[in-house]
Amino acid sequence: MGAFQKSIAITGGAGFIGSHVTRLFVKNYPSCRIVNVDALTYAGNLENLRDIDQLPNYIFEHADICDEQTIEQLFGKYNFDAVIHLAAESHVDRSIMDPLAFVKTNVLGTGVLLNTCRKHWSDNRDNKLFYHVSTDEVYGTLGETGFFTEETPYDPRSPYSASKAASDHLVMAYYHTYSLPVIISNCSNNYGSHHFPEKLIPLMINNIKHRKPLPVYGKGENVRDWLWVEDHARAIDTIFHSGTIGETYNIGGFNEWKNIDLVKLLCSLMDKKLGRAAGESEKLITYVKDRAGHDLRYAIDATKLNKALGWKPSLQFEEGLEKTVDWYLNNEEWINHVTTGQYQQYYADQYSRR
Ligand code: NAD
Ligand code: DAU
Repeated sequence: MGAFQKSIAITGGAGFIGSHVTRLFVKNYPSCRIVNVDALTYAGNLENLRDIDQLPNYIFEHADICDEQTIEQLFGKYNFDAVIHLAAESHVDRSIMDPLAFVKTNVLGTGVLLNTCRKHWSDNRDNKLFYHVSTDEVYGTLGETGFFTEETPYDPRSPYSASKAASDHLVMAYYHTYSLPVIISNCSNNYGSHHFPEKLIPLMINNIKHRKPLPVYGKGENVRDWLWVEDHARAIDTIFHSGTIGETYNIGGFNEWKNIDLVKLLCSLMDKKLGRAAGESEKLITYVKDRAGHDLRYAIDATKLNKALGWKPSLQFEEGLEKTVDWYLNNEEWINHVTTGQYQQYYADQYSRR
């Protein structure tokens, strides 16, 4: 392992949340070697890590987590003490178009990583950890009231959430069967910089900027609980270092928004930033055919994480949203690079028939 005290693999480190987690770990833990293991799918982007990719404790490995042989070789090469697993197919709409891609990466890929950890850590599991990053969507959907707690039964309803639920179950199966040291966290919707513009907030920012229609699914009544992505990364850091093996932690923003209210807030914020008349961008709102099986409401109860480990969100939503809009307006090159031909094709497939 050379001069490093610890060797940590972060899978999916070139994605949205993964890049924030990688940046935090590379900067905060110079004595740890951080290996970003990423297949660079449409969602993976090494530009997300330009500011840290020259630091001596950062390494990138271009690899698919479903490829057992390659993952085995990486474990041999780096002798990982821990894995923080974020690599996944992550977009619900794409899971409706192509469910098996989600079964492959999210279920098989997680299985390959778990099995490789089991083999490599069989003699000594001290200070080893498989940290699985999951989602609140495994709990299904809420009505008008109530919250998801760590005890809420799993009830996934999309191919994406079902594949994440299956991966969570596999993680716990390796804990119970092989005593693999694992922790899972289930987080609500993230927002912030470097978010791929297929998801609600960056898609709306990009469309408002270009005066394109703003496609709101159904009546816009669905509710999501939004968390600043850097607060999620901070929660992962806290749980990674202080969480209890075998436990699950819910992470959320205590910040529920109806989609339509959120889109209207973005419109008014961007009208001001872009020097447009008040109400101008709202005229772009277009109600389109609803998402199949669209979950009505997500809301996380993050009390356990707060009480046990002292974590709480740091940013007010309006402040975080303004920072996010500013980031997109100031990073035209990034958004231009990720909205090329492949994205245009996806956008046409996803929205032309709605
Ligand atoms: P993302 O789609 O932005 O990034 C996924 C990353 O995984 C990309 O870099 C991609 O190249 C990589 N990847 C995909 N398939 C791979 C494979 N087979 N092998 C190696 N790398 C592969 O995703 P995100 O939004 O940053 O989500 C990261 C994790 O957090 C996911 O596990 C997701 O389920 C979970 N999560 C996301 C949110 C959210 O709001 N985005 C909320 C809670 C949990
Ligand atoms: O809750 C955590 C989950 O949040 C993560 O596990 C997922 O990886 C992440 O993608 C996110 O899932 P959602 O489906 O909630 O996110 P999305 O941004 O796709 O949609 C948010 C809401 O906005 C949802 O109710 C659907 C709606 N929507 C979305 C898009 C892309 C629209 O109305 N119009 C759109 O064009």
